[in-house]
Amino acid sequence: MNRQVNYIISAHLLLATLTAGVLFFKNISSTEFLPENEEAFCGTVSPTAAVLSETAVKGKTLFMSRCASCHSLFKDGTGPGLFGFEDRGSWADRNKLYEWIKNPSEFMKKDPYTRELQKQYGSMMTGFPDITRDEVDAIADYITQAGEQRGY
Ligand code: HEC
Repeated sequence: MNRQVNYIISAHLLLATLTAGVLFFKNISSTEFLPENEEAFCGTVSPTAAVLSETAVKGKTLFMSRCASCHSLFKDGTGPGLFGFEDRGSWADRNKLYEWIKNPSEFMKKDPYTRELQKQYGSMMTGFPDITRDEVDAIADYITQAGEQRGY
């Protein structure tokens, strides 16, 4: 009789542990491991914003390989979150943006805004002397369209 009770209790404990385990892993796999800009989006997305343009897809690849080690789109990290960057500093002028990305330390000498940023973030952006204008344009497209996808 006693052994039977023990057996039933153990079986229930085992079942509870398994269920908790399954729920735990299900939860992790559905949220934790998605990259920041691919998080499940729960609002309505307009059809035009749902898909990245061909250029923006190239931009995304470039962004991931060259910029994402320091920049996210929507959160500050080693460098500022880049969504909306064209409203800041002198980045509405695309020529200035090319100059900056090619050689940040040189650009900073004549630009108080980026000197201020550097003080704030306490580290120096790497230069990309070989980056082309098309590549910078593609990255900028990606940043804008990723924001649109989020409904910004
Ligand atoms: C090694 C880290 C690092 C990498 C890699 C990097 N950045 Fe930065 N970026 C920074 C930091 C830090 C700042 C802030 C200024 C400073 O301290 O140099 C910055 C600033 C900027 C700004 C100005 C942001 C604002 O809010 O005005 C832009 C635009 C930018 N980066 C674009 C890029 C792009 C595009 C790439 C990839 C081609 C890139 N960065 C790669 C670290 C980095």
